[in-house]
Formats: sequence, C-alpha cells, structure tokens
Amino acid sequence: MSTPPPVLVTRRLAPGVIERLTAHHAVTCHDSDLAMDRAALLDAVRGRRAVITTLDDRVDAEFLDAAGPGLAVVANHAVGYHNVDVAACAERGVLVTNTPGVLTTATADMAWALLLAATRRLGEGERLLRSGAPWTWAPNFLLGMELAGTPLGVLGMGRIGQAVARRARAFDMPVGYHNRRELPPEQAGGADWKPLEELLATSTVLVVTCPFTADTRHLLDARRLALLPRGAVVVSMTAGVVDEEALAAALESGALFAAAVDNFEREPAVPAALLAQERAVLAPHLGSATVRTRQAMGGLAVDNALAVLGGSAPLTPVVQ
Ligand code: DGY
Repeated sequence: MSTPPPVLVTRRLAPGVIERLTAHHAVTCHDSDLAMDRAALLDAVRGRRAVITTLDDRVDAEFLDAAGPGLAVVANHAVGYHNVDVAACAERGVLVTNTPGVLTTATADMAWALLLAATRRLGEGERLLRSGAPWTWAPNFLLGMELAGTPLGVLGMGRIGQAVARRARAFDMPVGYHNRRELPPEQAGGADWKPLEELLATSTVLVVTCPFTADTRHLLDARRLALLPRGAVVVSMTAGVVDEEALAAALESGALFAAAVDNFEREPAVPAALLAQERAVLAPHLGSATVRTRQAMGGLAVDNALAVLGGSAPLTPVVQ
C-alpha cells in the first residue's frame, strides 16, 4: 500500500488557507462543506501525521487506532475541543491544538446580535412580515426589553465573555459574571464576580459563554433556569451548557421573556420544542462565521500543524 500524504484536512477551509499548507506538505482535503461520514473519516486518517479536524469529527480511541502510530497532531479548527478525547491523545503522544483568541470579537459580536434580536423580538417581527399577515404600528405592538440599566450576567468570563462584557458598556448595562475564579480588575472591566446562583438571581439578561465540558454539561438545567428573574432573557453561545428542553419549557411557561441560541448539543438537530417557541431566536452556529475570523481560525490550525510537522512546539496546544 502506498503511503498517503502526511496531512488530512477534513473540511473545505476558508479562501486562501489551504495554500499555506500545500506550500509545504502534500495534503488530502475533504473539499466539501459537509462533514466526512465516520467510515470515510476512519479510512482517510490511516497513516497520517497531522489532521485538521472540526467539531464534527470525533477524535477518540477508535480514530487514533485507525490513524496509527505516526499521528503527531490533531489541529482542531475551533476554540472548543469537546469532540476530542484529549486524554486518549495524550496517552499516545498525539498533540492536540485549538484556535483560541482569533474568534473572540466575531463571537462576541454575534452574542450581541442575538441579544438584541431576542430582547427586541426581531425574529417574530421578521416572520410576521414574511408571512404577509396584516400589521400596523401600535403602541403595544411587539414590545421588547429596554437594555439601559438592565443587569447583564456573563456566565464564563474567558476571552469571549470579557468581550461580551466590554460591549455592554456601550449599552449602559451593569455587568456581573461568574467564572471559576475571580478575574483581576483590568480583565473584569468593571464587572462584578458573583457565585453562580447569585448571578442567575440578579441577571435580567444572561449570556452563556463558558466552554462545554463534562463539568458544564447542563449546568443551566430547569432548576437553575428557574433562579433567573421572571421575564429574563438567555443567550446561549455554547452548546450543551443550557439544557435545551428546559430552556424551551421556560419559554413555553412564560418564565423567560425570550432566548437566543447559537449552537446546539446535537447539531445539526435542533429540538422541536425550541423550534416551536416564537420567542426563541435560533442561529445555525454562526458565532465565528466571518471571512476574516474563519481565515484566522484556519490559518492558526494550519500553523499548529506546520509547527508540529516541522519539529517545533505548536502555537496553541490544548493543555493535556
Ligand atoms: C468554536 O470554535 O468552538 C466555535 O463553536 C466555532 O464557531
């Protein structure tokens, strides 16, 4: 059997990115906007030294067995890496990298786009116009929530959470946050650290930006969602942290005013209970979806792979 090119890229990359890789190494690229199916992925990874993966590619013992002992690096094209069994990679000496930093502003902007759409009922208004239903301006027509003075809570004050909190200054919103540790004042930017349950009880608008891990899965379950003030708004930028069924139930009961969700636990599936909610603004995982950011994410994933293939340390390793 002939030796395959050393690098596998599992998805078509943003314009101009793949060339940075092909300038140095032979590459097999699954040149499609759709994920590889599992069997094709396991077949394609055989004998590679580097793989550029996305959140849809499960990197586990089966994947690593299929790749074989030559695999040196899994460069995930995302800041998240819940698709990667980092411990299994570490056991076999396979480095894992992600793309932190380069998607911060795009994702924080999207959080605000969703926050504004949810609080001002843009989804409902748009659907109404497109439906052709009669409408007229009226003092009580599609009234939303005013932001100035409204308390904003940020759950997860990493880079993206901090960027969300910075943008809140322009809207005159007092900001509280919860994070495993309290941040130094220059990073907190005037936001107040609170224990989780206190943050929930005092946030009229809550933005969820903490990473999806075994510890944060369904952190916002029905019990914790019920701690939010009546009429609150939840904006979820991380799949899996908010229990989607519980969120839909809180909208259905009127406990929440509105919600917005950018990514989902079982993508591309979206729970029917959420789709049924008029007050849910739903986006198909668009947080980092700008040309500049996707080029930067792809570029960083490529640079990580190139570094390891060249015998250097990767730029942004996932700590193992
Ligand atoms: C990530 O990088 O983890 C994001 O979800 C992609 O937008």
